Amino acid sequence: MELERFDAAVFLRDHWQRRPLLIRNPWASWSNPLEPDDLAGLACESGVESRLVRGRSVEHGPIPEERFGELGASDWTLLVQAVDHHVPAVAALIEPFRFVPNWRIDDVMVSYAVDGGGVGPHFDQYDVFLIQGLGRRRWRIGPRCDETTRLLAHDDLRLLAEFAATDEWVLEPGDILYVPPGFAHDGVAVGGDCMTYSIGFRAPSRRELIAAWCDEVLADLTDADRYGDPGLARQDNPGEISPDALARLLALVTERIADADAFARWFGRFNSVPRYPEIDWSPEEPIGPEDLVAGVILVRNPASRFAFIAGPPTLLFVDGEEFACRDDMVALAERLCAAPEMEIPASLSAAARDLLHTLCNRGCLGLG
Ligand code: SIN
Ligand code: CO
Repeated sequence: MELERFDAAVFLRDHWQRRPLLIRNPWASWSNPLEPDDLAGLACESGVESRLVRGRSVEHGPIPEERFGELGASDWTLLVQAVDHHVPAVAALIEPFRFVPNWRIDDVMVSYAVDGGGVGPHFDQYDVFLIQGLGRRRWRIGPRCDETTRLLAHDDLRLLAEFAATDEWVLEPGDILYVPPGFAHDGVAVGGDCMTYSIGFRAPSRRELIAAWCDEVLADLTDADRYGDPGLARQDNPGEISPDALARLLALVTERIADADAFARWFGRFNSVPRYPEIDWSPEEPIGPEDLVAGVILVRNPASRFAFIAGPPTLLFVDGEEFACRDDMVALAERLCAAPEMEIPASLSAAARDLLHTLCNRGCLGLG
């Protein structure tokens, strides 16, 4: 499915991270990629993250199948995370949004709601495209919130204590609402069989980034690596911590923390750690060289995270691992990262073939 009536360049300039946007059915042709019953089926599976929300109560999945019979025809909603990891037609919904780099994309959450169902007014830390798949939903958007915004007490859903809408729209199938991080929003199903697909993004917080990077730096440091002051200049007042000492102390910290090459390599690994490693595609029988011949289609495990940093050497990151690439491995790494599937090229070096083997046998790639 393609976005036909949508200008990504204008969107990135005027809306991305800045302000909400309603995009009325921009698709060449829209068809809902998943049936409500199939979503309910996923919510019953262990290993799939789901929530059932009725009013302000939340039940976490797996949801027992008979539960759906007890819920009635109004005011509940089912939310299932990372449906793209399980349903290729839902994964395909991400493709039109690749004008944002893959490393910023998280997953596709899918919700189903009966009349009046919704999670309530809240804000998220991440950008989201809310695609109306089936039925209708009334969305209200409020102002940008922050850590001082009051939330309802004792609430799993982190609902807003006050919500004053600044805009309101009813979305029909194929319509898309873009909501930047922090903007209050509230979607309520109008009529039954309402499905919404949330293309969710991610952005590391400064706190997690600093904490995780410093852990990495610390792992390499020893007690012997210590402040030193050769050429110490006698100071007028021995009680002062001099600017010179402070500059040396700060350098002791920043030299390691600001090592751009080490940071890039670490970030590639850190960012590619999968959120759902249990979605394991590793083959029962190891894949051998005879399976990896020219023309064979390789498919990325949708739960695997692929990214590269251009070199030399080009670094390929897959599921928390780093692979240094040279020669024909560079083009191979770039192709693996560019699209969810690729055809094995006619000629491959032994090193490039080894890389594909490793990735297939680890379940990061499957045979198409
Ligand atoms: C929903 O699909 O009902 C909720 C999506 C959201 O508000 O983040
Ligand atoms: Co939300």
